[in-house]
Amino acid sequence: MIVVMGATSSIAQALMGRLTEIGVPCRAVSRRPEFVRASLAPGSEVRYADAADPQSLRAAFDGATQLFLTMTNGPAQIELETRAIEIAAEQGIGHVVKLSAPIAAPDSPVAVSRWHYAIEEALRASGMVATMLRPYAFMQKLLLLAPGIVEGGVIVGTSGAALFNYIDARDIGEVAAAALTRSEIAGGAYTLTGSRTYSYPRIAELLGSALGRPIRYVDLPSDAFRAQLIERSGLPDWLATHITEVQRLAVTHPERPTDTVARILGHAPRTLELFLVESLDSFRPQVVTR
Ligand SMILES: NC(=O)c1ccc[n+]([C@@H]2O[C@H](COP(=O)([O-])OP(=O)(O)OC[C@H]3O[C@@H](n4cnc5c(N)ncnc54)[C@H](OP(=O)(O)O)[C@@H]3O)[C@@H](O)[C@H]2O)c1
Repeated sequence: MIVVMGATSSIAQALMGRLTEIGVPCRAVSRRPEFVRASLAPGSEVRYADAADPQSLRAAFDGATQLFLTMTNGPAQIELETRAIEIAAEQGIGHVVKLSAPIAAPDSPVAVSRWHYAIEEALRASGMVATMLRPYAFMQKLLLLAPGIVEGGVIVGTSGAALFNYIDARDIGEVAAAALTRSEIAGGAYTLTGSRTYSYPRIAELLGSALGRPIRYVDLPSDAFRAQLIERSGLPDWLATHITEVQRLAVTHPERPTDTVARILGHAPRTLELFLVESLDSFRPQVVTR
């Protein structure tokens, strides 16, 4: 049995959707099982677990053979994911597919990637087969720009004309499904990218022409950008730092496209243009009907 943690997340939803298409049952695990919406293949089940509660993890992993491991970013991430890894090994799971991040290295300029490195190390040391998926930013996270676009027609950032390599969450979910069902994919470490790179000014231009109104990109110095995330958007320090570090990473470490997704899936990654067209309503003012 395949256990899918974080079952309400965009990647897990895409993974479970793909498993359903190919008729592979799974155990969808969430802290909020009532919100697991994906249709699941016959023989699947939904269970509660919270990585902060070891007993719930033991019950969720009982009798399973493989685990898809994903976790919200945050200061407790290393502790929560390494606990899940320890309990997976203890429960006899043989293969873990871990959702990680690019440049997962001890000297990465992004703190969250250093956390991922520590978790990857724990997984490599566990004796289980370890597959690492290291995607660049999910296209679906661009929806977080919607309030600024709807209210002021602006995208604010600190990356200038640096190029980002957004990838659609659905492609990551499909790669995860391949890693869990195809032995030749299991055990590798994969940097996952879209097929093209885009700067924020270009994304603003694409959105503007699709919406039929101008969208501007406003570039701030990193300190001012970070301060705005804390003061105006109310983000915690670590998250404001993370977003700033990821934007600066694109400046210092070019996000070159790879053919990894196409090689594994046999089709090109979904394009940013497609995602923006599909999501256009999220970038328009919402009409309230009574
Ligand atoms: N976002 C990006 O663009 C991006 C890019 C590269 C890499 N990544 C990496 O991908 C990972 C997932 O990112 P995301 O944006 O998909 O995260 P997310 O949506 O914030 O969280 C993923 C899932 O983690 C689960 N979770 C959180 N706390 C938990 C706990 N205590 N016990 C069990 N499950 C818990 C939640 O599932 P339930 O609520 O269903 O329990 C949640 O849906 C992160 O580690 C991130 O570093 C993200």
